Amino acid sequence: KGDALLKSIVSQNESPLTHEEWEESAKKKMKPHEFGHIRSGAGAEETLRRNREAFSKWAIVPRMLNDVSSVDTSINLFGRKYDHPFLLAPIGMQKLADEEGDLASVRGAAKWNVPFITSTVSSYSLEDIAEAAGSNPRWFQLYWSNNEKISYSMLQRAEQAGYEAIVVTVDTVMLGWREEDLRNGYSPLRAGVGKANYVNDPVFMESLTDKSDAGVIQGILENVYHPSFNWKKIEEIKKATKLPVLLKGILHPEDAILAMEAGIDGIIVSNHGGRQLDGVTSSLDALPAIAEVVNGKIPLILDSGIRRGTDLVKALILGASAVLLGRPYIYGLATAGQAGVEQVLGNFIEETRVTLALSGIAKVAEMPSIKLIRQ
Ligand code: FNR
Repeated sequence: KGDALLKSIVSQNESPLTHEEWEESAKKKMKPHEFGHIRSGAGAEETLRRNREAFSKWAIVPRMLNDVSSVDTSINLFGRKYDHPFLLAPIGMQKLADEEGDLASVRGAAKWNVPFITSTVSSYSLEDIAEAAGSNPRWFQLYWSNNEKISYSMLQRAEQAGYEAIVVTVDTVMLGWREEDLRNGYSPLRAGVGKANYVNDPVFMESLTDKSDAGVIQGILENVYHPSFNWKKIEEIKKATKLPVLLKGILHPEDAILAMEAGIDGIIVSNHGGRQLDGVTSSLDALPAIAEVVNGKIPLILDSGIRRGTDLVKALILGASAVLLGRPYIYGLATAGQAGVEQVLGNFIEETRVTLALSGIAKVAEMPSIKLIRQ
């Protein structure tokens, strides 16, 4: 293992290593408005900043002499074993980063057995992504539609294509106030890079009176979100599928309680990477209060601001079962396609292993009592 680390040190001195370096190389490759769409947050980007600051306010107080010669990073979610305690966050419109988009990302994820969450507004259809995933686990993320027949149809398609869980995003009942996109007059949905799941949906296509390209885009803009989405609907969605259902975008402990009452199987504590409501708490700071009310009854996944292995370990110590990785893998994708995703994930996995070992954690599924202190 020591040798492997040394080899990777030698092979990496030419390529980006830190998140900031990957971001910089992605920026050089992309058109400014497309890069801006991915990098930016909503409003004054207070929450985007807070998502990072939150991690450095916590410090690990490690345990020693725990025999960390082999670190078992596997976790169990919904009766299935996963090799690593993280998944790739649902990110739409990946063609902005690379022509092969989601297909390259899911192949990169498959190299390391990292589950991939396909977005409603992916650049390739959920069926094509499933095929590229092969036997790699995948989940499907749903933006609940104004025309719920479309959402139920996508749910059914996801089940048929071998998706193993449904992630319902609840913080996006309308688009956030995104000033970078407003300034650039840019909407990727209008540009058509997020239409694959719609044009491949018979219920959506049937609902259109104008089936031209412009009609399709108009149909998506009218149907992608659902401002009157509410808790009653969550119960109906739960009944409509046998797959585990997670809610993504929970920040308030009372909402976590409502989710459990609705029979939800897992919660993703998230502020959408600072892209929806600006001014909200960082996800990490929201986590302890939610972990307290959930009390281990259902899995909690932390999303927003994860950049390195130490962030992942802090989230686990504060009560998460796993985390999601967002922009980091997209910057790998933009820099070098599938190979870039593989490299970002490989580094993240290795840094996580070293962090766990040096913290005294030999088995993620049996976390020893490790403290974090506020700095
Ligand atoms: C997103 N995110 C997102 N979330 C979701 O539920 N459905 C989606 O289609 C998208 N699309 C999307 C596009 C882009 C360009 C970004 C950057 C993000 C949010 C994503 O799943 C995740 O919550 C954040 O990216 C997490 O924050 P970090 O890891 O990027 O800081």
